[in-house]
Amino acid sequence: MKVFAGTANKPLAEKIVKKLGIELSPLEIHIFPDGEKRVRVLERVVNEDCIVVQPTSPSPDVNYMELFFIVDALKRSGAKSITVIVPYFGYQRQDHQFREGEAVSVKVISEILEKVGINKLIALDLHSIKIEEAFNIPVVHLSALSIFAKFIKEKGWDKDSATLVSPDMGGIRRIKILSEMLGNMPYAVIEKNRDLATGKVTADKIQGKIGKRAIIIDDMISTGATIVTAANLLKKNEAKEIIVFATHAVLSDKAPKILEASEVESVYVTDTIFVPENKQFSKLEILSVSEMIATSLSS
Ligand code: R5P
Repeated sequence: MKVFAGTANKPLAEKIVKKLGIELSPLEIHIFPDGEKRVRVLERVVNEDCIVVQPTSPSPDVNYMELFFIVDALKRSGAKSITVIVPYFGYQRQDHQFREGEAVSVKVISEILEKVGINKLIALDLHSIKIEEAFNIPVVHLSALSIFAKFIKEKGWDKDSATLVSPDMGGIRRIKILSEMLGNMPYAVIEKNRDLATGKVTADKIQGKIGKRAIIIDDMISTGATIVTAANLLKKNEAKEIIVFATHAVLSDKAPKILEASEVESVYVTDTIFVPENKQFSKLEILSVSEMIATSLSS
């Protein structure tokens, strides 16, 4: 097996290969003055099973193009199979037409990936289980929920003191799975609305009872609006301590600032997306998914 890394999250790829007891295989990625990239495989891959690690945030278009070129270069160099690990799979939220006239972007991406020649996709915490259906090749869908469950247990946050909270109706499945992992920890769901034209998030209703410690679980934090809106509502509903777990730290715009200034005590994310120093803040802690990915590759 040979593992290659695109430029989006090399630190994660390095952790994965360390756990596998191998080295990253070299790639040359040259950027021309006009922004175009030239990708070249620098190692013999004939008849090898090749793995490429490349999440797509930030700059989804740039990272996807780089991934397509890496896959093409491996194919042309004689790779036997190509598995792409896209820990954060960009465009996954555009999985159907929300309004007439919209593109189904995730379908476009899946078709290109298959066309360039991938044999298998490994992704983490996809926004909906329907995304797997956009592919005709095997998709391994891993989840950081077990990492969160272990962490919550180690902290001693039990079902007598804590309630799991989904910040929207779309997260119910996720929260039910985690509740089961935590011995049926109670859960509540916030009724969130997002204006599709402006993106503005509002929420004024919670289904379920909130204990003194509220643990919000989400698949991703982008602008931070969902988390901050949920936290404000939970505070109004007597939550004393608000903790957040989200798999993907997209952290666009002013998310780090508004999360740091929010009612939230701590924000736990994973390293599916590389979080540069200028996006880190004191309430943030990053848990690694490298072990989970390495285990999936060696099984
Ligand atoms: C929405 O359905 C997702 O699960 C996330 O809650 C959402 O994408 C987070 O985005 P933002 O941080 O911009 O509110």
